[in-house]
Amino acid sequence: MWDQFHKSWLASLASILSDPLQALQNWNSSDQTPCSWNRVTCVNSRVTALSLPNSQLRGLIPYGLGTILFLEKLDLSNNYLNGSLPLSIFNATQLRFLDLSKNLISGVVPETIGMLQSLQFINLSDNELEGTLPATLTTIQNPTVVSFKNNYFSGSLPTGYLNISYNKLSGKIPPQFAEKIPGKATIDFSFNNLTGKVPDSVDFTNQESKSFSGNSYLCGEVTGHDCLIASSPSSSPPAIAAIPDNRTISWS
Ligand SMILES: *[C@@H]1O[C@H](CO)[C@@H](O)[C@H](O)[C@H]1NC(C)=O
Ligand SMILES: *[C@@H]1O[C@H](CO)[C@@H](O)[C@H](O)[C@H]1NC(C)=O
Ligand SMILES: *[C@@H]1O[C@H](CO)[C@@H](O)[C@H](O)[C@H]1NC(C)=O
Ligand SMILES: *[C@@H]1O[C@H](CO)[C@@H](O)[C@H](O)[C@H]1NC(C)=O
Ligand SMILES: *[C@@H]1O[C@H](CO)[C@@H](O)[C@H](O)[C@H]1NC(C)=O
Ligand SMILES: *[C@@H]1O[C@H](CO)[C@@H](O)[C@H](O)[C@H]1NC(C)=O
Ligand SMILES: *[C@@H]1O[C@H](CO)[C@@H](O)[C@H](O)[C@H]1NC(C)=O
Repeated sequence: MWDQFHKSWLASLASILSDPLQALQNWNSSDQTPCSWNRVTCVNSRVTALSLPNSQLRGLIPYGLGTILFLEKLDLSNNYLNGSLPLSIFNATQLRFLDLSKNLISGVVPETIGMLQSLQFINLSDNELEGTLPATLTTIQNPTVVSFKNNYFSGSLPTGYLNISYNKLSGKIPPQFAEKIPGKATIDFSFNNLTGKVPDSVDFTNQESKSFSGNSYLCGEVTGHDCLIASSPSSSPPAIAAIPDNRTISWS
C-alpha cells in the first residue's frame, strides 16, 4: 500500500516540476513500483533515497516530501526549486542525509527540524532562507556536516547546546572561534584531541570544566590543568579549521 502511495506521489513530481534535462524521464506511473526509476533507491521495496542534484528542476519544492516515511537520503541540491520548506519533510524521521543546497528556497527553518534526530548531514546553504536558526538544531545528536551558509539568517546562534564532543577534533581552539560563541551557549569539546591553552575569553571561562575533559593536552584555568610553559605542542594546527574527519559546521 505504501509503495503504491509513494509511487503515485513520486510520479506526480514528474508532472509538477519543469525538467529540461529529463532526469525524471522514465518515471512512468504505469510501472508497478518506482524502484526502477532513475535516481530512486529502494531497500526491501521501500523508497529510501531520492537523488536529483544538478538537474535544473524548476518549480515549487514538492509538498509532501516527508510522506516517504523511509527516506534516508534526499538530495535535491543545485536546482531552481522555490517556495518554503515543506513541513512534511520533518515526518521523514529516518532521514540521515538532507541536501537542499543551492536552490531558491525561502521562508524559515521550522523548529520541527529537531524531529530529524538521525540527521548526519544537512546542507541548506545557498538558498533564500531567513529568520533565526532553530534552537532545536542543537538537539540533533550526531551531525557531521551542518551548513547554513549564504542565506539571510539573522539573530544570534542558537543558544543552548552545541555538542561536538566525541569527534576527532585536534589542534588548538582558535580565539576567533571562541569569539563567535554566544555568551549563553554551552559548547562541549570533550573527548577530542585538542591541544594547547584554552583561550582566555569570557565565553570559554563560563563553560564547565567537564566540557573540556578527555583532551589530554589541553590546559588553562577552565580545564583545571595549568599550562606548563613547555608542555603544549606549539606547532599543531587550529582545531576548528583543521577537522580531520571532514566534519564541518558553518553557520553563516
Ligand atoms: C508507460 O508504460 C506503459 C506500459 O509499459 C507504456 O504503454 C507507456 O507508453 C509508458 N509511458 C511513457 C510516457 O513512457
Ligand atoms: C516559483 O517559481 C515559479 C517559476 O519557476 C514561479 O512561477 C512561482 O511564482 C514561484 N513561486 C514562489 C513561491 O516563489
Ligand atoms: C506528519 O506527521 C503528523 C503527526 O505525526 C501528521 O499529523 C501529519 O499528517 C503528517 N504529515 C504528513 C504530510 O505526512
Ligand atoms: C553545501 O552546499 C554548498 C552549495 O551546494 C556547497 O558549495 C558546499 O560545499 C556544501 N557543503 C558541504 C560541507 O558539503
Ligand atoms: C554530548 O554528547 C555526548 C555523546 O552523545 C554525551 O555523552 C554528552 O552527555 C553530551 N553532553 C551534554 C551536555 O548533553
Ligand atoms: C592526539 O594528538 C597527539 C599530539 O598531536 C598525537 O600524537 C596523537 O596521535 C593524537 N591522537 C589521536 C587519537 O588522534
Ligand atoms: C576527507 O575529504 C578528502 C577530500 O574530499 C578525502 O580524500 C578524505 O578521504 C576524507 N577523509 C575522511 C576521513 O572522510
